[in-house]
Amino acid sequence: MFNKRTRIKDLLQSDKVNYQTTVMGWVRTFRNNQFIALNDGSTNNNLQVVVALGSLDETTLKRITTGACIKAVGEIIPSLGKGQKVELTATSVEILGDSDAEKFPLQPKKHSLEFLREIAHLRFRTNTFGAVFRVRHSLAFAIHEFFNKKGFVYLHTPIVTASDAEGAGEMFKVTTLPLDGTAPKNEDGSINFKEDFFGRSTNLTVSGQLEGELAAMAFSDIYTFGPTFRAENSNTTRHLAEFWMIEPEMAFSDLEDNMNLAEEFIKYIIRYAMEHNKEDLEFLTQRLDEEEKQKPQNDRSEMGLLQKLEFVVNNDFERITYTEAIDILKESNHNKKKKFNYLIDKWGVDLQSEHERYLVEKHFKKPVILTNYPKEIKAFYMRQNDDGKTVAAMDILAPGIGEIVGGSQREERYDKLTERMTEMHIPLEELDWYLDTRRFGACPHAGFGLGFERIVQFVTGMGNIRDVIPFPRYPKSASF
Ligand code: 4AD
Ligand code: MG
Repeated sequence: MFNKRTRIKDLLQSDKVNYQTTVMGWVRTFRNNQFIALNDGSTNNNLQVVVALGSLDETTLKRITTGACIKAVGEIIPSLGKGQKVELTATSVEILGDSDAEKFPLQPKKHSLEFLREIAHLRFRTNTFGAVFRVRHSLAFAIHEFFNKKGFVYLHTPIVTASDAEGAGEMFKVTTLPLDGTAPKNEDGSINFKEDFFGRSTNLTVSGQLEGELAAMAFSDIYTFGPTFRAENSNTTRHLAEFWMIEPEMAFSDLEDNMNLAEEFIKYIIRYAMEHNKEDLEFLTQRLDEEEKQKPQNDRSEMGLLQKLEFVVNNDFERITYTEAIDILKESNHNKKKKFNYLIDKWGVDLQSEHERYLVEKHFKKPVILTNYPKEIKAFYMRQNDDGKTVAAMDILAPGIGEIVGGSQREERYDKLTERMTEMHIPLEELDWYLDTRRFGACPHAGFGLGFERIVQFVTGMGNIRDVIPFPRYPKSASF
């Protein structure tokens, strides 16, 4: 067996010394032809591998370069050096993969996040991205743990679909028809999708919610966790064209149940990361502190990363209605002094991220759940409130990010739903299967979607969403 090795994280955590072991990993630095800082991705902390002077031939020594992959065998002994309990004195070092030091793009120095984005295939090997992607893993694991413990069924909803779940028309087309103008046409000149692979026009899913609702009407509680796609031309630090979303859907639930679950869920997964990724979060806290120091005093956040996470898990989210939010915004000095790009002048306007951030960062200084939005700015499936103007929607806004969750109680009343769909020009025939849930055993139900990358951003303190997904897809970019 080749892979008989000890993970560096386990070695560094243990107090055990004076035993033989094998380690494998990538060389971060090699000093004085003697000290290798070795990293295997299990932790940001490197293992010091000491090559006894004279024990390796000249050719092997030359091949121990930054980026090279090596196997080292030797004894774990107490370390004399600072910052580590143990080190490995190597009796043998084998080069598994050479790395030309002249050409390897990751030099042992600080690189900008922008540069690292260009070499996303190598950035896993930096401390920042090591920490970010281990935290991402933990959050994903915690999500499954949370729902599993609660008895939710994990549902896999389709990636290719014929429906637009959000009715917002921001979809990527899926087709095997030729793009050179020779695609079969209908009499009116439009493309004849009956000839296409699926016999109809299809796209990548923007949300698994509608299928999730079908399953909730059988299992009571389900959740999805999968990739979703939006062809919105948003070049921001919060938008991706391909992102992962978690969408729980619960039968026998109203808006308040929905909010309670979402808040408990978010706190649970943050707490999980705080328990299981302590070192990584300490590293990211320090990284953010340094980044913040570059900013003018006024723009700096009041809390460090870990302090912020601690605060969020230990305090209730603020819950207010859209109408209350509009009043706060309208009366704010920010609005009066015309500091918003979009001034708040009347009820009914959609909130921009500057407004959301004002509410969470300046006004409440904590996560906020906004409810009961005007129906005109929300999706067709949201339950209509008795006032005739608003729907039972909820968005959760987080400091530094803005919207991380969007959800609602669903319109379970067949007549109300079809009426709204007709008003919004959503063809009933196409969603006939969805309407069946309202025909056969409907019940009050609710659900929400958490943008996975947005919560990873929040927990890691990374400023740009492109730095919390391994290979980001955004307008004009689909490398790797
Ligand atoms: O608010 P959205 O559009 O809601 C839905 O898709 C509903 N079907 C969810 C549900 O009720 N089951 O999206 C949900 C969340 C947003 O709050 C945001 O966190 C994230 O998905 N999101 C994005 N994340 C990254 N890039 C984008 N382009 C995103 N669009 C939405
Ligand atoms: Mg939304």
